[in-house]
Amino acid sequence: MGGSMKFIEDLNLDNKKVILRCDLNVTIKEGKIVDNTKIVKSLKTINYLLDHNCRVLIMSHLGRVKTIEDKLRNSLEPVSLELSKLLGKNVCFIPETTNIVPTILDNHQICLMENTRYEDLDGKKESGNDPELAKYWASLGEVFINDAFGTSHRCHASNNGISKYLESGYGYLIKEELDGLDPIINNVKRPFTVIMGGAKVDDKIQIIKALLNECDNLLVGGGIANTFLKAAGYEIGTSLYSADYVDEVKELLANYSSKIVLPIDVVVNNNDNISTIDSKSVTEGAIYDIGPKTLQVFRDILDESETVFINGTVGMYEDERYKQGTVELFNILRRCNNIKIAGGGDALASINTLGYTDAFNYMSTGGGATLEYIENKKLKCFEE
Ligand code: 3PG
Repeated sequence: MGGSMKFIEDLNLDNKKVILRCDLNVTIKEGKIVDNTKIVKSLKTINYLLDHNCRVLIMSHLGRVKTIEDKLRNSLEPVSLELSKLLGKNVCFIPETTNIVPTILDNHQICLMENTRYEDLDGKKESGNDPELAKYWASLGEVFINDAFGTSHRCHASNNGISKYLESGYGYLIKEELDGLDPIINNVKRPFTVIMGGAKVDDKIQIIKALLNECDNLLVGGGIANTFLKAAGYEIGTSLYSADYVDEVKELLANYSSKIVLPIDVVVNNNDNISTIDSKSVTEGAIYDIGPKTLQVFRDILDESETVFINGTVGMYEDERYKQGTVELFNILRRCNNIKIAGGGDALASINTLGYTDAFNYMSTGGGATLEYIENKKLKCFEE
């Protein structure tokens, strides 16, 4: 841990006003929280603070806020209700991010402030780590605790900036994550295999490049695989892919041909006819899952691996018709006797929903944060 951050237990917090930065960035669909893991994982630190008779002001971002519409759909209010439910205690929701009554913590033991990224709408103050904003937020408490592991690859006002103006420490979730991820950071047991899925290559291309230097095998699935298949020169019908990245992926395929493993068969929907076909023959329809031959190839590699990390999902598992690849992959992992770590919201949601938590040694709440941690062995928010 860089800087002067101390662990929460090493600070005297009794009766203090604490600003607690959590990563409560959960997916909300039609007002409902799809997976509450990040909220549940934040409870240990919250309860520790409440047990020490602290007054707690929680901050978090939710989604990305670039337009008024983003602002409207990214309120933390549903999270506040879920948190109240999980704590069995009323959490006062503050619908603003500035102009907050300075004495708010005198009247409420625990509050959740509205989405920190509302401050991005007018000049990217949160994401740009604006010192005035950080100073203002710091003025609302006496101590700052950072427990937002999932955000620790960002240097924003609410996680990095604020720590410069208050005595600061990190919470239980950050400690748990650093310990849990250690097998894929230090002295990694090899072969080290990364399974990379998810919808789009766009967000992940840099990290894929970096991971290719770290890992021994990269098994590719999900929407990401479509771009790889296209770059390999195959037809992919009407499957979604990222045209802007095909050339870059071509280069990766040329430079890391021995490490990258692509699906050899895929599940295709062509006018509602669903079939499993060779991934080189997708002339019509769109790809939604990996097929059994691919799973066989993946299984052979996973059986030989000492350490496995999975990010994203290999198919559109939310739809019954396309969940088989994800389920079978988890069955393979459950049987493998190696270190298995998962990271990122989608991977966690699929593992939780399909009932495979027991198959993993550790499940990280970090998506980008975990990937960058594997790449850099450090987390930006604590270094700068
Ligand atoms: C995540 O979900 O990975 C974290 O909350 C970070 O979100 P961000 O990529 O929008 O910063």
